[in-house]
Amino acid sequence: MTDSTKIAIVTGASRGIGRSIALALAREGLDVVITYRSNEQEAAGVVKEVQDLGRTAVALRQDVADFGSLDASVAEIRTTLSDTWGRETFDCLVNNAGIGQLSAFGEIGNPDNIGTTVAAVLSGRMRRVTAQRIEVGGFHI
Ligand SMILES: NC(=O)c1ccc[n+]([C@@H]2O[C@H](COP(=O)([O-])OP(=O)(O)OC[C@H]3O[C@@H](n4cnc5c(N)ncnc54)[C@H](OP(=O)(O)O)[C@@H]3O)[C@@H](O)[C@H]2O)c1
Repeated sequence: MTDSTKIAIVTGASRGIGRSIALALAREGLDVVITYRSNEQEAAGVVKEVQDLGRTAVALRQDVADFGSLDASVAEIRTTLSDTWGRETFDCLVNNAGIGQLSAFGEIGNPDNIGTTVAAVLSGRMRRVTAQRIEVGGFHI
């Protein structure tokens, strides 16, 4: 790592849009922390792809819809930054993790459907993380 190394955190990057973003950032020269919910093998594949691009990557299993695990998740990211890069900061957060749910038109207003989706799109979690103070330049999580 050099002083100019940029580190991005991309949530939900084991596949789909998050994976593409993580690889695009690696191609631009950033190191990445990717998170995922359950697909460990796919996440490991993304880490390998980033490494093949000459960058450093770490995959963390973190369920963003599990608000009770927030403090542990933040601690894990801090430890990862310190152990892997010798830093406490990162430079870019891509808040991508989430799910899409298809519902019949008449069920769109069902609070259960809305609650699950919103939880997975982490609105509560990111508000809390933000409240814990994120400083640009880098960010402190
Ligand atoms: N694709 C679209 O057309 C579209 C349209 C509008 C908005 N979006 C939004 O864009 C984002 C990415 O979409 P996508 O199509 O790339 O989704 P995707 O292919 O289903 O991938 C979702 C990613 O998020 C992770 N994830 C899901 N729930 C999570 C949770 N509770 N905690 C942590 N990680 C979680 C998944 O991890 P695992 O692999 O471990 O499950 C995976 O890495 C989502 O927020 C989605 O709502 C997508």
